[in-house]
Amino acid sequence: MPTDETARYRETTPKSRAMWEEACRYLPDGDSRHSIFWKPYPIFTESARGAVVTDADGVERLDFINTMTTMILGHGPAPVLNAARAQMELGLAYNSPNRHQVELARLLCARIPSFEQVRFTNSGTEATLNTIRAARAFTGRSKIAKVEGGYHGTHDAVLVSLRIDPAAGGDYDNPQPVASSGGLVDGTLEQAVIIPYNDAPVARRILEEHRGELAAIIVEPVMGSVGMLPADTAYLTMLRDFADDAGALLIFDEVISFRVSPGGAQEYYGVTPDLTALGKIIGGGFPVGAFGGRSDIMRLYSPSSGPVINHGGTFNANPISMAAGVATLTELTPIVYRQLAELTEMLRQGIRKVGSEMEQPVRVTGVGSLFGIHFADGPLRNYRDIAVADKALGERVFLGMLNEGFLLAPNLVGALSTSLGEVEIDAFVRGFRRVLQRQT
Ligand SMILES: Cc1ncc(COP(=O)(O)O)c(C=O)c1O
Repeated sequence: MPTDETARYRETTPKSRAMWEEACRYLPDGDSRHSIFWKPYPIFTESARGAVVTDADGVERLDFINTMTTMILGHGPAPVLNAARAQMELGLAYNSPNRHQVELARLLCARIPSFEQVRFTNSGTEATLNTIRAARAFTGRSKIAKVEGGYHGTHDAVLVSLRIDPAAGGDYDNPQPVASSGGLVDGTLEQAVIIPYNDAPVARRILEEHRGELAAIIVEPVMGSVGMLPADTAYLTMLRDFADDAGALLIFDEVISFRVSPGGAQEYYGVTPDLTALGKIIGGGFPVGAFGGRSDIMRLYSPSSGPVINHGGTFNANPISMAAGVATLTELTPIVYRQLAELTEMLRQGIRKVGSEMEQPVRVTGVGSLFGIHFADGPLRNYRDIAVADKALGERVFLGMLNEGFLLAPNLVGALSTSLGEVEIDAFVRGFRRVLQRQT
């Protein structure tokens, strides 16, 4: 009889539960983010330092998700805190451009192959929204191709075919757009073209059917929402070629995959998009987003010659997020990326080993400092493969890992920080073994 992970979780988190019940009086389901809700209730965090997150009950856990991949240097790294504090003394938000914005823009343009110019936002959602708006304005077309299961934030155009029941999405080789939220504007689904991930022939055939109507293809080079699934190079190359042939733009959503190398996944794969959306790590833990790419497209954002695209935002490029972002990127040297990737590979191997020792169908995905754990038998190449994984076991393992003192995302994805080392990796693998043992 498997151990009841939920009962153990409830026993150790009574204060979180009380806080959540109070929160539910004022906030729907007690919070403001869907992505971090889990049953029976989420944990309330009191503090976080380095690799350790302490909850309302005083329980300490090692952080293997790092604020949905954001805290790549761990919690409270001195260079970032110092930069943010120094800026706070000089002012919190200005009604003018600031020097840190220019420095962060310079750093991003130097690192990212496709970046000639960039603009900042307060979230990844606003970043992908602007890449799509720019593509529509630039091409004069309206349809957007997106990958089934891909998450690009919470605006209408991308809230399509995300975490859907595959039965509702039509045949694998002819996927139909499905609304993934209420309240989408009429016509949203007609503007969406859905393609499978990592299947170049099928995706190309579908794209060809809409040639001439497509403003852009938006794709994550490593799919976070589907469990850190990396793209095949051949798939990304096909998208690049098609976009060139058809006069559409290729957009990379690198809100997560910018972790993969100093120039992001586009540098890692050697495939250069026209536009890229960023977020998370580039703000060092403060609210941020950015979009950038070819200067002939980014020129649509010049107020002196238009603007063709209206883009405001009181806190866009606020000096605290920008200063924290500069400090973070400055720490992220090529050697740091290499060390993080080596450590994460050690973790992936360790988890795989536990799976094979215990004869469990454990699959581990990921690249660089990103990883995902799946309970599935077959190869994992796209959303439909992930959709048949054992979700009930995944949920028990998620709570089990919390009970063992390790934080992951509810879909068992994670991202390492430089605060984690071999000792913590070993502890995670041992914890994972104990949790799996309890499920059999
Ligand atoms: C790939 C991807 N794109 C876009 C977003 C949206 O970013 P934000 O939460 O900053 O709006 C996310 C957030 O998790 C993401 O993972």
